[in-house]
Amino acid sequence: MNAPLLQVEDLCVHRGGVRVLDRVSFALGAGETLGIVGASGSGKSTLARAVLRLLEPADGRVRWRGRDFLALSGRELRAARREMQIVFQDPATSLDPRMTVFSILAEPLVVHRLERSHALEERILALLREVDLGPEVLHRHPHELSGGQAQRVALARALAPSPALLVADEALSAVDVSIQAQMANLFGKLRHSASLACLFISHDLRFTAVLCDRIAVLSRGAIVELAEAASLVRAPRHDVTRALIAAARESEVQRR
Ligand SMILES: Nc1ncnc2c1ncn2[C@@H]1O[C@H](COP(=O)(O)OP(=O)(O)OP(=O)(O)O)[C@@H](O)[C@H]1O
Ligand SMILES: [Mg+2]
Repeated sequence: MNAPLLQVEDLCVHRGGVRVLDRVSFALGAGETLGIVGASGSGKSTLARAVLRLLEPADGRVRWRGRDFLALSGRELRAARREMQIVFQDPATSLDPRMTVFSILAEPLVVHRLERSHALEERILALLREVDLGPEVLHRHPHELSGGQAQRVALARALAPSPALLVADEALSAVDVSIQAQMANLFGKLRHSASLACLFISHDLRFTAVLCDRIAVLSRGAIVELAEAASLVRAPRHDVTRALIAAARESEVQRR
């Protein structure tokens, strides 16, 4: 059997002397979408950062395509990093305000030497189409975009190096409620395209339940439940999961 794309084993992270991730383990197959849900402060962003090696775990292992990701260096680390991309919650802070959309999207392509210059604009326009944006945004700066457009640009930038894994950390939380559903559709479309695996992190079960194959529930830094999305919602086993389901129903009612 092939090794899963990503294997996280007994991952522990300490922040300020406190254990904020406690022996987290899961595996993610190529093309699979795993939801990570949990209340604020449960450790979701810490998990995202530790998986991408943006912070050092105190203990545990991360395997990427069967290899010890925490031990990779040099060219191998750069190659693995290119395959793992992240979209953060707030495009206002993740996009450089001085750059145009064109240069924001050109950068990852040029850095990774993926494109010769004559093909660059075509590739950028194709990326924009993937996130339902047209050529009119090409020469705008981030402040000339709506919040939803800016988040689409951040998503396009993450997709530029053709990653195998996309980590979306609350990628829908900062966009206006009226366009959250459109953005969720976009993630749904990506999920079925090619072989992109996704860690879809959210405090809100509403979108996670429809966008993910399986869902892991985090509470105080530990996974308390991990199941197929449909069965987790239908037959939750843990009180934390029940509370998240109740909260999702509540916000659904409020939206009506
Ligand atoms: N740099 C840090 N120093 C000390 N504690 C930290 C640091 N970063 C995070 N923490 C703590 O780690 C815990 C997990 O934080 P994390 O940001 O991963 O939560 P989260 O689930 O992403 O929350 P949210 O839904 O609000 O984004 C929290 O208790 C937080 O206070
Ligand atoms: Mg967070």
